[in-house]
Amino acid sequence: MTSPVAPPPMTYRALGSSGLQVSQIGLGCSGFWGNRRFPEAEAERIVRRALERGVTLFDTGHNYAAFNAEPRLGRILQRAFATHPRDGLMISSKAGTLTGQAGISGAEQRDFSPAAIERSCAASLRNLHCDHLDIFQLHGIGLEQISDELLTALERMRRSGMFRLLGINTHTGAVMRHLAERRGPFDVALIDYNALQQDREPVIAAMHAAGIGVLAGTVLAQGHLLPARPRVPRLADAWYLARAWLKPSSRALMRSAKAMQRTIARVGSQAPAQTAFAYVLQNPAVASGVLGTTRVASLDQVLDTRVDMLAPQERERLVATFQQTGASPSQ
Ligand SMILES: NC(=O)c1ccc[n+]([C@@H]2O[C@H](COP(=O)([O-])OP(=O)(O)OC[C@H]3O[C@@H](n4cnc5c(N)ncnc54)[C@H](OP(=O)(O)O)[C@@H]3O)[C@@H](O)[C@H]2O)c1
Repeated sequence: MTSPVAPPPMTYRALGSSGLQVSQIGLGCSGFWGNRRFPEAEAERIVRRALERGVTLFDTGHNYAAFNAEPRLGRILQRAFATHPRDGLMISSKAGTLTGQAGISGAEQRDFSPAAIERSCAASLRNLHCDHLDIFQLHGIGLEQISDELLTALERMRRSGMFRLLGINTHTGAVMRHLAERRGPFDVALIDYNALQQDREPVIAAMHAAGIGVLAGTVLAQGHLLPARPRVPRLADAWYLARAWLKPSSRALMRSAKAMQRTIARVGSQAPAQTAFAYVLQNPAVASGVLGTTRVASLDQVLDTRVDMLAPQERERLVATFQQTGASPSQ
């Protein structure tokens, strides 16, 4: 009788030139996970499972899920610190967006004035029951908003111990190129990168070469890279569907994902979500892929990804599909 294959142990990767490491799969604490209608006990089960399996990177945002995701993560982690000490974790949050729903309608209001950014960081520390953030990110900042006044305030905040690493969360190529060319005080970039966004690869390599730790969000293209799962619909699925149709960037993602979704489904070596993660994690310039989920089973499947199992000829099919369709929602 053959024994079941043991799940792969978590791998940790250097986060740019910061000297710190992150689990190669991180947990994104946003979206429906942070929604008040998603029971906190369920959200806690997912975080606990992630911790048990060696996830050290937890990414949230001050405004995520109508300002509910961050304090929810804080309550859950506070209960978990006894068994999973704070020091071993990389807790990441963001400031700058004033609207509470990570832009489901596409309309976001932002404030990157030094006072607003410092206030938001202080509120994040209270919400997360931490004396510092490991990664503090400017959420969707534009180049014209990166002022000397803001950078001076951020350096002061860093010196006073409010955060360790400074990052930018962006989906804009010009901001990524700026980080690669003129790194400045920035250590981390959280970007959108998945098999549909292979045109990101040169700038990812350039950021990595400049010492920036690159985190990939939306590795599953918000689920659009995966075939529909036959199952009883849940409230979470209705929320995902609303996001797919109402948010312009999600609509674009959904439309451009069809051909790649079919190619990924035909890769037989692993489940589609694992193939999507293996594709991103085979890029040595990526420190971690950040997963969003409302299901322990989804999390377990992604954590079971074997990065090397995506064979070169399978990877080649994903590359060929990208080249044939030219499908890329990258900006
Ligand atoms: N979306 C953005 O624009 C954005 C922006 C900034 C930062 N980020 C960061 O990136 C993280 C991830 O982004 P995201 O949640 O938008 O997108 P994602 O991780 O690409 O996709 C999440 C979707 O995939 C589904 N899924 C997860 N694992 C699965 C599996 N094994 N099999 C089938 N379906 C699976 C989830 O459904 P279930 O819940 O049913 O598993 C959910 O619908 C965020 O939490 C955040 O930290 C995202």
